[in-house]
Amino acid sequence: MSISMLSPMGLLRVIPGPFQGAFLLSLILLLIKVAQFYLRRQWLLKALQQFPSPPSHWLFGHKYEFQKDQELQQILKWIVKYPCAFPRWMWGSKVFFQIYDPDYLKVILGRADPKSTELHNFLSPWIGEGLLLLNGPTWFQHRRMLTPAFHYDILQPYVQLTADSVQVMLEKWEELVTQGSHVELFEHVSLMTLDTIMKCAFSYHGNAQLNRSTHPYIKAVGDLSNLFFSRVRNAFHQTDMIYRLTPEGRLNHQACELAHKHTDQVIKQRKTYLQEERELEKIKRKKNLDFLDILLCAKMEDGSSLSDQDLRAEVDTFMFEGHDTTASGISWILYALAMHPKHQQTCREEIQSLLGDGSSITWDHLSQMPYTTMCIKEALRIYPPVPNISRVLSKPITFPDGRSLPKGITVLLNIHALHHNPKVWSNPEVFDPFRFAPGSTQHSHAFLPFSGGSRNCTGKQFAMNELKVAVALTLLRFELSPDPTGIPEPAAGIVLKGRNGIHLHLKKHH
Ligand code: HEM
Repeated sequence: MSISMLSPMGLLRVIPGPFQGAFLLSLILLLIKVAQFYLRRQWLLKALQQFPSPPSHWLFGHKYEFQKDQELQQILKWIVKYPCAFPRWMWGSKVFFQIYDPDYLKVILGRADPKSTELHNFLSPWIGEGLLLLNGPTWFQHRRMLTPAFHYDILQPYVQLTADSVQVMLEKWEELVTQGSHVELFEHVSLMTLDTIMKCAFSYHGNAQLNRSTHPYIKAVGDLSNLFFSRVRNAFHQTDMIYRLTPEGRLNHQACELAHKHTDQVIKQRKTYLQEERELEKIKRKKNLDFLDILLCAKMEDGSSLSDQDLRAEVDTFMFEGHDTTASGISWILYALAMHPKHQQTCREEIQSLLGDGSSITWDHLSQMPYTTMCIKEALRIYPPVPNISRVLSKPITFPDGRSLPKGITVLLNIHALHHNPKVWSNPEVFDPFRFAPGSTQHSHAFLPFSGGSRNCTGKQFAMNELKVAVALTLLRFELSPDPTGIPEPAAGIVLKGRNGIHLHLKKHH
């Protein structure tokens, strides 16, 4: 084959006439893509020049620096060398700007930059445009509408509902322990937190814990989280059209359908109830509306304010946010206490003197367990259930040290790295609850498990209550110790998971 045949004109001559137009068009499109790639990369290199990062490949970025599932650990090595922030190159023209300095986080969280649409487009087929993904005035409207659902008066009765769900989980653990086996926490705790959120926010008593061990919704959420995470990292899976054709894309679609089947059932049951029982008037007269009441009333009073699609998105968002985060939090807190038996025993003594046998736990008790609360916070520091959040700069920014970034950069607020940053926390890997002792001081943005600013977690109080109830009742019943054959390693995801699960040995406490 002569060299001239490999040139575009040479190739054009050997291509049959009808295909020549298509060939030329493809060639032009390819050239445009290459030019776009080149220009975007040059722009990014210039925009990020004040922020050094480990050397990266022009096409594969930092891909080879990260071993599978070692993302969190690798970043912790880099934060020592690159103070405040560094650009993480995903591939040639894609970069996530990682920040883990409290002053940097304070500046970003004090602004109103939107969340990254790029990342959230991957999540929206599942959780829709609910509070977590919305931006701008619609987000503000929804946030204002839903804030009353987390009012103190509403949350109070949830303490007993949560305690009931926790007791069901502990009963199951007692059975397992008599069989001499250890327990993988995450699955059990997820079922318990799912049960709790369904009872509290949706008045839906589905007994997720009793029906079967692997609830289809929990399985779907696990799959969807993993698929989201691997899609973000795959340059070829960015476009919806291509992704849909891949095996992962098809699995994602099926898992979304399974998750929606569950939330649809919850909505349908409540709607039927409203029609049959003429409950709407009763609900309107109720002093304290639950989360689903608020959504349904907002829709029924003013049909235009909440479409069925909006309603479903909020239910999907709260169903997911309301159980997966707390499942991660509770599992890691119990693990941290298992690793530190002295702190565990001090918590147990505090809880025993407060609750006796734990047959009754109330809202008032929750503010009377200071040592346990310190341990919970320290575990949330070392194992933040939401390890990363993202924003896209809507205008240029200058950080307190004078370095700046232009509009359009995607910033990853790395909560996990912030909580392990040795410039912020001395001996960050050491479990020391006294960091949160009354009177101890920290930077206002050094500890952000629930984020901060106007888009902080709406469910923070609900979540803290659930964590306290679960930890208190568990410690009254069991002594926890780690399983030496399966020490869990934190792995990044939408929520923090343990690679190969989180296993513990449980011994009944007498
Ligand atoms: C330990 C448990 C929890 C942790 C660590 C946690 C953490 C967070 C974080 C870091 C954010 C900010 C997300 C972002 O900026 O992208 C957030 C937002 C949110 N969380 Fe939580 N969360 C927890 C539990 C809950 C619960 C139980 C609910 C609901 C019942 C909930 C509902 C939400 C919602 C709706 C948002 C979006 C708020 C907005 O953008 O206006 N979270 N959460």
